[in-house]
Amino acid sequence: MTTMIQVENVAKEFTLHNQGGVRLPVFDNVNFSVAAGEALVLAGASGAGKSSLLRILYGNYRPTSGRIAVTHAGRPIDIVTAVPRTVLDIRRRTLGFVSQFLRVIPRVSALDIVRDPLLARGASAEEASERAKAMLARLNLPPRLWDLAPATFSGGEQQRVNIARSFVDPSPIMLIDEPTASLDAGNRNVVVELIAEARAQGSAIVGIFHDEAVREAVATRYLDITDFRKAA
Ligand SMILES: Nc1ncnc2c1ncn2[C@@H]1O[C@H](COP(=O)(O)OP(=O)(O)OP(=O)(O)O)[C@@H](O)[C@H]1O
Ligand SMILES: [Mg+2]
Repeated sequence: MTTMIQVENVAKEFTLHNQGGVRLPVFDNVNFSVAAGEALVLAGASGAGKSSLLRILYGNYRPTSGRIAVTHAGRPIDIVTAVPRTVLDIRRRTLGFVSQFLRVIPRVSALDIVRDPLLARGASAEEASERAKAMLARLNLPPRLWDLAPATFSGGEQQRVNIARSFVDPSPIMLIDEPTASLDAGNRNVVVELIAEARAQGSAIVGIFHDEAVREAVATRYLDITDFRKAA
């Protein structure tokens, strides 16, 4: 299978500049790769660095050292050293990030939020609407909410709009940080199904899941971040 992410010797240490320059080592010498169709689940105690690693993979945090090759349009690109324009292009076409928080844009409806990635990738308005509605229905978002802006939605409703947007057209690589935190069991199961379907289409998944049952349903492999704690 095609390698989609290759992580080599990645280390992260935070420096707290506004607190006397205190240094906070998180992990050291992390190495792994993820192939198309795999779901690597990050494990390890709270504070071990799971979310930090995911943000590094997304190009949001800069690692202290190491390189991360992301397969973009068929060739590996180091996201650590890529220029911002390239990082944006990688995110648009290859690398999706699913968090538990929806970035709410005033006055933009739930339906438009979910349609947007389809339109951006060239789907017709009609096809985009059909697929977006099907996805919102699958995630049990009541149709009376579809044309409303999610600012006033409940936490779980916002989360489902966010998941619908992310999975309506899954990216080749999907980074997922606790997407089911405030969902009921039924909707959690829908998320597990959506991840399995994305994998079947060839997406490579790296995810963090608080819920053990979800973790076990999703994972094809585990990586325990605690194993990479920097030796004191
Ligand atoms: N932006 C930051 N600046 C400074 N320190 C940070 C920053 N982000 C994370 N940390 C520190 O790095 C460590 C790892 O945090 P991280 O959020 O990656 O852990 P986690 O494994 O995702 O934990 P949880 O399971 O609680 O979400 C923590 O000690 C945290 O305080
Ligand atoms: Mg976290």
